[in-house]
Amino acid sequence: MSRTELPKKLEAEIRQRVFDEKEFLKITQVSRRGGGTFKISLRPIVIKGERRFQGEMVENGHTQVKNFSCKAAENGLAEILSQTGSRDLHLITASGDLHIRVTKKGKILESRSAEMSRAVEDKPAHDRVKKQPLTSFDSSSLLRVLGIASADGKIKASKRGKYDQVNEFLRVIEAVTADKPEKTLNIVDCGCGKAYLTFATWFYMTRVHEFDVQICGIDRRADVIESAQRMAADLDVSEQVTFIHGDIESSEPAFNADMMMSLHACDTATDEALARGMEWKCRYLLCSPCCQHELHKGLKASNEMKAVLRHGILRERLADLLTDTLRAQILRILGFRVNIIEFVSSEATSRNIMIKAEFCVKCGQNGAISDYLELRDYWKVTPWLESRMSALIDKYLKNFE
Ligand SMILES: C[S@@+](CC[C@H](N)C(=O)[O-])C[C@H]1O[C@@H](n2cnc3c(N)ncnc32)[C@H](O)[C@@H]1O
Repeated sequence: MSRTELPKKLEAEIRQRVFDEKEFLKITQVSRRGGGTFKISLRPIVIKGERRFQGEMVENGHTQVKNFSCKAAENGLAEILSQTGSRDLHLITASGDLHIRVTKKGKILESRSAEMSRAVEDKPAHDRVKKQPLTSFDSSSLLRVLGIASADGKIKASKRGKYDQVNEFLRVIEAVTADKPEKTLNIVDCGCGKAYLTFATWFYMTRVHEFDVQICGIDRRADVIESAQRMAADLDVSEQVTFIHGDIESSEPAFNADMMMSLHACDTATDEALARGMEWKCRYLLCSPCCQHELHKGLKASNEMKAVLRHGILRERLADLLTDTLRAQILRILGFRVNIIEFVSSEATSRNIMIKAEFCVKCGQNGAISDYLELRDYWKVTPWLESRMSALIDKYLKNFE
């Protein structure tokens, strides 16, 4: 086998073109070793704003990927260039390609593409920032006022989970309203707390989707409502983004609501929010429940289920699961098409379930009623939401029983 090395002049050209920031796209070399092939490539990437290189080595079907500093990449390139034997080297740059083939007999065949002017990305693939709802418009002052970003515009580590939850919640709002014929949206945010979601929804749906949005946050904590009202003034949206200090149960927004949303309202506040959403005749209900205690103690085990309920954590998870299933069934009986989804990753919050409901099906369908009654009666529970909605739901349940 030939031990042919490349001429020094050609090596120098390759080095110069690889470390030319504006030009270089990728270098790949495939060499043949002991009956197999070894492929190594190097491409520029940007990590946290810093130029680096990513190397990929593939040998006998095993792939290894490593990121390098520029200095380490110089050594990596030296290693590529120091390989001998038959091989193919392909250098891709913005102005054209260089292809070198070293044959088994040690002949060096060099070919070059015609001059070209390819576009070079500012931020090559590795950390191209994932487009999020809150990065699709200038949200810098919003995020600063909300305290999600620091003065220099960076998302605070302590707020990363909430930032992700809000972004993913916004994607759901965007999806459910995609076919809405009128570009108006009246939303109530039940248990709005510090109003991250409230403000983010208003800005995202007006700025990006050009909806005319009225939004009202409700919370029983006076301090969070006072601070939300101050933020609305600071952001100059006090007329469109309003707040009520009070209980979800007794508060009334000043408009006819299309959507009720609720992110982590505690325990039966989620049920109260669903009940109010139905009473306000909202078409869309989006609820991500928080802690749920209602069924936890009330679950009584039939013999088959005793073993599950013996363990506190399993009892709690089962109670959560049943609570949301029964909520979904009640909504189905009352005319909603319901999906239960994980709206955000479990790293952002372990409370990542969302009940997504749209009022668009016939109320009181037999299948929805029988599924509900079977489950409820098996567990011998009366869900809080059923009692709360008795004025509407009883007629369906009684006629069926
Ligand atoms: C866990 S925090 C979530 C706040 C906000 N939605 C968020 O995700 O950042 C729950 C909020 O719901 C409010 N809340 C709970 N039950 C309520 C009720 N029945 N009426 C009004 N607010 C309630 C609490 O005061 C609290 O601010």
